[in-house]
Amino acid sequence: MSSIVNKLFRMDGKVVVVNGGAGRIGKQFCLVLADAGAKVVLLDLDGARASEVAAEVCHSSGGTVLAIETDSTKKESLEEALEKTVAEFGTAPSGLVNSTQFRGTGFYGSDPADHPIEAWNQVFAVNVSGVLLSCQVFGKAMFESGGSIVNVSSTYGIVSADPRIYGDSGVNSPISYAGSKSAILNMTRYLAVHWREKNIRVNTLVPGGVFDNQGEEFVKNYSARTPLGRMANADEYQGAILFMLSSASSYMTGATVTVDGGWTAW
Ligand SMILES: NC(=O)c1ccc[n+]([C@@H]2O[C@H](COP(=O)([O-])OP(=O)(O)OC[C@H]3O[C@@H](n4cnc5c(N)ncnc54)[C@H](O)[C@@H]3O)[C@@H](O)[C@H]2O)c1
Repeated sequence: MSSIVNKLFRMDGKVVVVNGGAGRIGKQFCLVLADAGAKVVLLDLDGARASEVAAEVCHSSGGTVLAIETDSTKKESLEEALEKTVAEFGTAPSGLVNSTQFRGTGFYGSDPADHPIEAWNQVFAVNVSGVLLSCQVFGKAMFESGGSIVNVSSTYGIVSADPRIYGDSGVNSPISYAGSKSAILNMTRYLAVHWREKNIRVNTLVPGGVFDNQGEEFVKNYSARTPLGRMANADEYQGAILFMLSSASSYMTGATVTVDGGWTAW
């Protein structure tokens, strides 16, 4: 690799926390970061899955991954994860990705008029409050040496979900998801502005829908509604996350990076 590319993208020795790292996209983030030389700290509520994914990532990248079961809606749990990270690697992290989301059942297809407020509160607890808590705990740990934070939103935080593609599947993306993912956009800008003097960059990644064996009709409709004509593969956000966490994006903060096959372009 050329020295310019190395300088921009290698992350050797950096400690990067991936919150929600056992998820479909989260795992792909861990893979690319470990491959770029970062020491990855994989946080997830599902501790068993976190250990499984960490082992897979270590095996295929030859890198270092520490899995820690963490509930990012609880500050003490995140503080404990920070302590374990420092104990393991001897340094605070300089990178953080917030890639969690609440996945409940029974409220996806609900009309906004009847969307249960309990579901709204649960979604916001993980997708918004949990992200803020994670930024607070790991962001503060970056106050001395700086760092880069990426919060993961969604196309549905920018525009409404399109009810026409869901038909009567009952899996429509709910209003609570839309509200929570929109909140990420400006929370991120606020942090970017208020932590500018701490040398902490804070940006939002906006992914589009990932193919995950959804029903044929839905996949067909989603693809037709997408300028690139298909859903994403989970690994198609690896380039963006590496760019956003590495020196390659050293002049970028408060930005929204959209990687959605063109979904929001028309
Ligand atoms: N998959 C998509 O199609 C898609 C599209 C656009 C945006 N996104 C966003 O990308 C991000 C990653 O998506 P994904 O597909 O990997 O999601 P996923 O549901 O596969 O993974 C989310 C992970 O977060 C974990 N989690 C949930 N609550 C937690 C908590 N309280 N504390 C710690 N961990 C918790 C879950 O255990 C899970 O492993 C999410 O923010 C999602 O909203 C996903």
